Amino acid sequence: MDDIRDLAVIRRAVLSDLDAVNDMHARCSVDTRRARYHGQRDRIRGGEWEWWCDPPYGFSALVTLNARTVGLVNVIGTIPDGLWEAGVLIEDAWQERGLGSRAAAYAVWEARSAGACGIEALVESDNARGKRLFARLGAQWSREEPGTLTARIRFGEPVGADRGLSRPPMGACR
Ligand SMILES: CC(C)(COP(=O)(O)OP(=O)(O)OC[C@H]1O[C@@H](n2cnc3c(N)ncnc32)[C@H](O)[C@@H]1OP(=O)(O)O)[C@@H](O)C(=O)NCCC(=O)NCCS
Repeated sequence: MDDIRDLAVIRRAVLSDLDAVNDMHARCSVDTRRARYHGQRDRIRGGEWEWWCDPPYGFSALVTLNARTVGLVNVIGTIPDGLWEAGVLIEDAWQERGLGSRAAAYAVWEARSAGACGIEALVESDNARGKRLFARLGAQWSREEPGTLTARIRFGEPVGADRGLSRPPMGACR
């Protein structure tokens, strides 16, 4: 059987992707959306999408399979050498196949290349998969509010190749 990670394409999101992104959100469970956004949210509004596609620093990228959007990763910063806020969402039907890990590794590489000093992400304390994903990238953890952990990956610490991660293959990720 094909490894789904080899079929996935990760590419920068553009304004015209909004409908596909919202269709994917509609296919996601309430629990998946809550785990990503820490509240009720079923779609991305136009103004917000414009910001996500062209933030002061950072980027948004889609995970696609046969041109269908199955995941979204955002890394958004407000200062060039600060910690940029990251979030990853994979549609329920495609979870637990390595796509979230692939998307997060892409985010780390791109953020590091773009001048971030690290990334941070909010992860609910009962989100085993989310915690595992960021732990594998070398996150340090803090608890800033009940039920929620902040994962911080500072790029002065070993990430990427130092932790056995390689840049996502160029054929699959662009
Ligand atoms: C969290 C999320 C992005 C992970 O993506 P995914 O494609 O499902 O996860 P992966 O298949 O890449 O697995 C990630 C890790 O979790 C592990 N894992 C998978 N299922 C698990 C489970 N039920 N319990 C514990 N760990 C699990 C995997 O083994 C992997 O760890 P490994 O690299 O050590 O083997 C995805 O599940 C999702 O979108 N969840 C909702 C949004 C969210 O929680 N985002 C994170 C906060 S921003």
